[in-house]
Amino acid sequence: MRFYGYRCSLCGGEYGESEELYLCPKDQGCLDIVLDVERIRRSVNPSQLIGPDRETSHWRYLPLLPLDDPGAEGTPLRAVGWTPLYALPALRARHGLKAFWLKDESANPTASFKDRASSLVVAHALQIGAETVVTASTGNAGAALAGMAAALQLQAVVFAPGGAPRAKLAQMSVYGAEVVLVEGNYDRATALSLEVSRELGWYCRNTGYNPFTAEGKKTAAFEIWEAVRGGSIALTEGAPLSIFVSVGDGNIISGIHKGFRDLEDLGWLEFRPRIFGVQAEGSAAVARAFQAGTERLEAVRAATVADSICVDMPADGLRALRAARQTGGAYITVKDQQILDAVAELGRVGVFAEPAAAAAFAGYLKALETQQIGKEDPVLVLSTGSGLKDIAALQRIVPDAPVIEPTVGAVKRLLKL
Ligand SMILES: Cc1ncc(COP(=O)(O)O)c(C=O)c1O
Ligand SMILES: [Zn+2]
Repeated sequence: MRFYGYRCSLCGGEYGESEELYLCPKDQGCLDIVLDVERIRRSVNPSQLIGPDRETSHWRYLPLLPLDDPGAEGTPLRAVGWTPLYALPALRARHGLKAFWLKDESANPTASFKDRASSLVVAHALQIGAETVVTASTGNAGAALAGMAAALQLQAVVFAPGGAPRAKLAQMSVYGAEVVLVEGNYDRATALSLEVSRELGWYCRNTGYNPFTAEGKKTAAFEIWEAVRGGSIALTEGAPLSIFVSVGDGNIISGIHKGFRDLEDLGWLEFRPRIFGVQAEGSAAVARAFQAGTERLEAVRAATVADSICVDMPADGLRALRAARQTGGAYITVKDQQILDAVAELGRVGVFAEPAAAAAFAGYLKALETQQIGKEDPVLVLSTGSGLKDIAALQRIVPDAPVIEPTVGAVKRLLKL
């Protein structure tokens, strides 16, 4: 038995591991995978999981994941996670910050956080004998699925909205995925992918819908936990760590929450982080429900420069809402211009983030401005994907490079030297 079973986030209904489930059969609620905490506690302790001698990927936490060892040594699938943590002294100095860190997920094999989920889904697909894995995606999830499927020689099929950034689509195709553009938005692509997966019996990776996605994403929480234990994130007594996460479907934030809940259930969590969700003003279904104090999400007509978090009706909205509510965090919305400014500011300290990735940092700056967070408060901002993913959006914030005649004089005139 690899895990205890599934528990519905809506009705609390429980299902055994032997069933291969997506959503709760009763009410379509997202399912949490429940670990066999007693067995894990008996077989492993934290010091066996962490430390400098362990594998430098998220597979170091395999005993806390609901699947068998995927093998796949020597492939990109085995290299997912264990992403860098930066203190960014220049950025700290500019804002007078004392305890700020940024975790850069663009270091993953396909350059986004989504590898954490896709690596688990693809490994699980192989273990249950699936040959084709399908997903709807705004871009990164599809690229991650395509890359991870290629690593294990499975076929990936991706349904993306027509407006998805070209770089992400090209990336999927280079990995050998079947890429299909769907007229309309991401929500339409999602509906079609579900129908196709049912009709053709393909294994479906859809974010939130497949319970293994949050399980992969929770490994980021384990890495943060390990960084705190190891002292690379230094917390002082009484000051909780605040974690800022960009939110579209809400599966990254709910996965991170799940990771901390697992650690708590195991009795291994020495600190209680607050989790903050950041949404674009034009795509803020979860933030609205948070502010309204309800658990009932209503669809919006989403529009934002941050394509990866442009979602009408978040697939994992309820758990995303609870991630902030149950940890003492909050939801923050940011304007597109604030997102683009955040891209530029991160760029100036060497971090190249796509708009959806920089949204989390934009939310943090807003929280500082409104004094929701103090400059002394320990904060970790997750930057979820590389700027190379969406060059067109970033070209809006930088001037075209000037073209000059190839002479030193022309350089001097241009640079006013
Ligand atoms: C770069 C990036 N950041 C954030 C998100 C948001 O993740 P979620 O949809 O799970 O909320 C995505 C999702 O595609 C993404 O690609
Ligand atoms: Zn249910």
